[in-house]
Amino acid sequence: MKEELEKIREECQASLSEAKTEMDVAEIRVRILGRKGSLTQLLKRLGSLPEAERKQIGRRANEIKEKLEARIEQALEDIRERERRESLAKERIDVTLPGRRMDFGRRHPLTQTLDEIVHIFSLLGFEVVEGPEVELDYYNFEALNIPKGHPAREMQATFFISEDVVLRTHTSPVQVRTMEKRRPPVRVICPGVVYRCDSDPTHSPMFHQVEGLLVDRGITFSDLKGVLTVFVHRMFGKETNLRFRPSFFPFTEPSAEIDIECFICGGRGCSVCSNTGWLEILGSGMVDPAVYRFVDYNPEEVTGFAFGMGIERIAMLKFGIHDIRLFYTNDLRFLRQF
Ligand code: DAH
Repeated sequence: MKEELEKIREECQASLSEAKTEMDVAEIRVRILGRKGSLTQLLKRLGSLPEAERKQIGRRANEIKEKLEARIEQALEDIRERERRESLAKERIDVTLPGRRMDFGRRHPLTQTLDEIVHIFSLLGFEVVEGPEVELDYYNFEALNIPKGHPAREMQATFFISEDVVLRTHTSPVQVRTMEKRRPPVRVICPGVVYRCDSDPTHSPMFHQVEGLLVDRGITFSDLKGVLTVFVHRMFGKETNLRFRPSFFPFTEPSAEIDIECFICGGRGCSVCSNTGWLEILGSGMVDPAVYRFVDYNPEEVTGFAFGMGIERIAMLKFGIHDIRLFYTNDLRFLRQF
């Protein structure tokens, strides 16, 4: 029995040194110390030994049992410690890795252009006002000195809602609405969406304009020239040459269009400027006294000037964009360039 005891001890130690998991250890524990385990069984047989032998072997057996129990605990402890270390190593987080960058949106080129225009005129004391996109014929045409049957109506292919209601073809009706509500001095710009039945690479049925209006005592054409020259120099650069070219609008007299020197060819003539060397950027003029009559202003007391420009056109010139439709298709490859 003594030899048997030592064999159990050796066998247990050998198995423990090979155990890799808690399961392995549990199995060894059952095999040796369980109810039917080899050591348990041996202890049961002690009673049949003669007394002297029983005491001696009994002591040794208990000693071995305690030792093995301690070894088993130790083995479990070692395995748990090793597994903890392994899982920590596997789940290790490298806090020094560079983070993932957020993809930021950016302002649309039309918004950028409009914001810049508004900023320049706000520095000159202009206030922003707005008007409706669905407009009465009266404000879009009549009160701007464009009566029914006037040939100037033909220039603006109009979307009609009904006989007297249109989608505004320009922001000029906001001039009239503003003067109806306020007495001079008036100094406003009116940005907004306008509509015309027109579509090709440089025309869209929906586009944006900014209108400007300044009315006060003693305003002259040189005020118009001064304000719009400052605007052009701020918008396109101080070196930009510009010219005031006589033109006609029913609601201004005299009227002028402003051209800037073509920055593609430097004025020598190219396809962008149709070989003229100049690019038209806005319409303007002194407010026609006929318009004042609609809003009850006295043309003997006040004078003023007005102007209007297409935001798409300004943005296309500024950024060198050749197709107006790029503004509306939301192609990220286009939008990311601004
Ligand atoms: N409303 C004109 C258009 O859409 C632009 C314009 C020209 C506006 C002259 C004005 C102006 O205020 O004075 O073609």
